[in-house]
Amino acid sequence: MHNAGIAALGLNWRYLAFDVPPDHLRAAIEGARTLKFIGLNLTVPHKLLALEMMDELDASAQRWGAVNTIRFEARDAQGQWRPLGRFAGKVPDTVRAKGFNTDADALSQALREDIDWQLLPGTGVLLLGAGGAGRVAALKLASEGAGILFLVNRTIAKAEAMAAEIRKRFPQQQVTVGYPKNKVDMVINATSLGLQPEDDLPFDPKQFSLQQTRCVYDLIYRPAETALLKAARAAGCRAANGLGMLLHQGAKALEIWSDKPAPLGVLRRALEKEVYGK
Ligand code: ATR
Repeated sequence: MHNAGIAALGLNWRYLAFDVPPDHLRAAIEGARTLKFIGLNLTVPHKLLALEMMDELDASAQRWGAVNTIRFEARDAQGQWRPLGRFAGKVPDTVRAKGFNTDADALSQALREDIDWQLLPGTGVLLLGAGGAGRVAALKLASEGAGILFLVNRTIAKAEAMAAEIRKRFPQQQVTVGYPKNKVDMVINATSLGLQPEDDLPFDPKQFSLQQTRCVYDLIYRPAETALLKAARAAGCRAANGLGMLLHQGAKALEIWSDKPAPLGVLRRALEKEVYGK
C-alpha cells in the first residue's frame, strides 16, 4: 500500500518491514533516526512502549496513549522543525522523533464510510475486546459521545479498567461492563477471535443476539469475512471488515510524512491486491 502511494506521490522513498523484538525497540528507533529515515510505523506490541521513547508527542498520540506513526524531523534554516521528507538538500544531523497516532481517526472514518455509521444521541455500542485496539476504539467512541458503551472482554478486569479510564476522561460518557439487554446501534469486534477459521463468535450467543444491532464492524480484515460478519449479514445487519481502518491509518501516516494528500484510490487498490489478491 505504502510503496504504491509513495510511487504515486513521485517520492524516492521505500517502505520496508522490520521484525523488531520489544526489548530492541529503542535501539531500532535510534538506528532509524541516525540513518535519517523519513519515519516509521509501529504495530503490536510496540505502540505503548514507544510513547516514552519519543522526543515530541503529537496531540493524537497523547490523547490515545499510543504511537503507531513516527515522523523524524530536523530544524530548517529558520530554526523550525520540519519533516525530513521536506528537506531537498543535506539533512542536519540533529534529528528528533515525533510520535503520532492515526488509528483512532481511521476507525471513525472507516465506520462512516463503510457502514454509514453516524453518531446518534442515545444509541448504544457494544465493543468486544479490551486489548490495544479495543482501548483506542473505546476512547475514540467515548470522545465522540457514543450513547451508551457496553464493554465485553474475556478478561473482565481489563474491561473494567477500560471503563474506569473512560469515566475519568469522558465523565459525560455512559459506560457499562457487560452485554446490553436492549438494542444497540453497532457492535465492534476488537478481539482476535475470527483470525483463525475455527474461531467461535467473539460474543456469547446466550447473552446477545445479532438481531439486537443495526451494524457490525469487525476490525479483522483477513479473512475478509469472519464468522461474525457472515452471521451479521445473515441477520440483515450492515457489516464491514477492518480493511477501511487499515487503509485510513496508513493514508494518514503517509500524509504525516509527506505533507501531501494521500492518493486514497491507489492505496486502496494496492491494499486489496496485497491482502485479497484481487
Ligand atoms: P490488539 O492490539 O489487536 O487489540 P491485544 O491487545 O492482544 O491485541 O488484544 C486481543 C484481544 O482479543 C483482547 O481483548 C483479548 O482478550 P483478553 O483481554 O481476555 O486477553 C481478546 N482475545 C484473544 N483471544 C481470545 C479468545 N480466545 N477468546 C476471547 N477473547 C480473546
